[in-house]
Amino acid sequence: MQQQSSQPEVSTEAKSGLILGIESSCDETSAAVVRRGAQVLSNVVASQIRTHARYGGVVPELASREHLENIIPVVRAALAEANVTLEQLDAIAVTEGPGLAGALLVGIMYAKGLAFALGKPLIAVNHLEGHIHAVLLEAREKEQKISAPILALVVSGGHTHLYLAQTRNDVWSYRNVGKTLDDAAGEAFDKVAKLLGLGYPGGPWMDALAQHGDARAVPFGPVNIKQKPYREADAQTPRFLFSFSGLKTAVLRYVEAHGLQARIAARREALARMESPSPKEALALCDPETLGLIASFQRAVIDDLLRKTMAAAESLHVRSLVISGGVAANSELRRRFTQEAAKRGLTVAFPSLALSTDNAAMIAAAAWPRFQAGSFATDELSSEPSLALGSQR
Ligand code: KG4
Ligand code: ZN
Repeated sequence: MQQQSSQPEVSTEAKSGLILGIESSCDETSAAVVRRGAQVLSNVVASQIRTHARYGGVVPELASREHLENIIPVVRAALAEANVTLEQLDAIAVTEGPGLAGALLVGIMYAKGLAFALGKPLIAVNHLEGHIHAVLLEAREKEQKISAPILALVVSGGHTHLYLAQTRNDVWSYRNVGKTLDDAAGEAFDKVAKLLGLGYPGGPWMDALAQHGDARAVPFGPVNIKQKPYREADAQTPRFLFSFSGLKTAVLRYVEAHGLQARIAARREALARMESPSPKEALALCDPETLGLIASFQRAVIDDLLRKTMAAAESLHVRSLVISGGVAANSELRRRFTQEAAKRGLTVAFPSLALSTDNAAMIAAAAWPRFQAGSFATDELSSEPSLALGSQR
């Protein structure tokens, strides 16, 4: 991991508290100006969905190329929208990892150049920490209290992780207490949507179509994972493990057993002929059996996320839940978590839809405590595609 250095010559007594955040870890190029980790002045996102949609997944080389094309206009737009000049900024924050190596590097090289040219500090941010801070940022904006310790579920196309998040003197620390053993939940949504001939990324399509299906139509059962017995040293550290690849295979088996292939091929072709198809058009192309399959799959994913997150919350005695990452945009997931948290007397917070998926406001927000602590990156900063967050046990 990149060594962080304290640079005493840079005064951290915030003048304006303005941080420019830059995010380019996957398929969105984003820049944002956030004041004191609490007020979003701008958050510009250039999505590459149209580029990658025809391949049904993110193509790393194309992603890097588009980041290169977009980074300058996106940063300019973020500054203009915030009505802030480069000189007024206190620091530049950038995503260090995890993510695609080449994509990350575009943001990092640009941020480094900017920080060097302006003589301003550079702050490296973990993308996963960013997702958690998307929620904390909006809670500050709304003056909503989220008491620590917090259990954070980061659930996106690349991650399904549970973190115990604690704060001491405004410095956050994290312990990874759960993860997926195979696919991330968003990845499972995307793969099943593709399998059923729907658009990319699949999550929003599945979410919209599931509302028209019977979630009990297919009895996908709970995902039980045999845990290895804890070693003595791990006895105090429960792990909450997810797995979604079995569920994806179960959908494939269902498709084969019920002969849905021809209908899927027809749907895929019909959508391919449309200019910019949406779930609304797909609904007309789905029969009740397919809608039941979609709703049942979504229900099974949410059942699993809910069951293990609540077990972790109970075992770790947390007071609040933070649910973030692209899949946190799912309407049924929000409804079920809100309902269950209320039953248990837990606070639960989600990001707004705009801050659920990748964005730079969350990067600038996560950088704020680091700015205050004077924790800056050196000019050795490079991309860390597999960067982990916090301690792993
Ligand atoms: O956080 P994000 O933008 O990028 C990653 O860091 O992965 O998450 C993207 C993921 C995709 O897998 C997408 O299908 C999923 O979030 N997603 C959803 C919804 N909106 C986005 N999944 C389920 N329901 C949604 N409404
Ligand atoms: Zn993300």
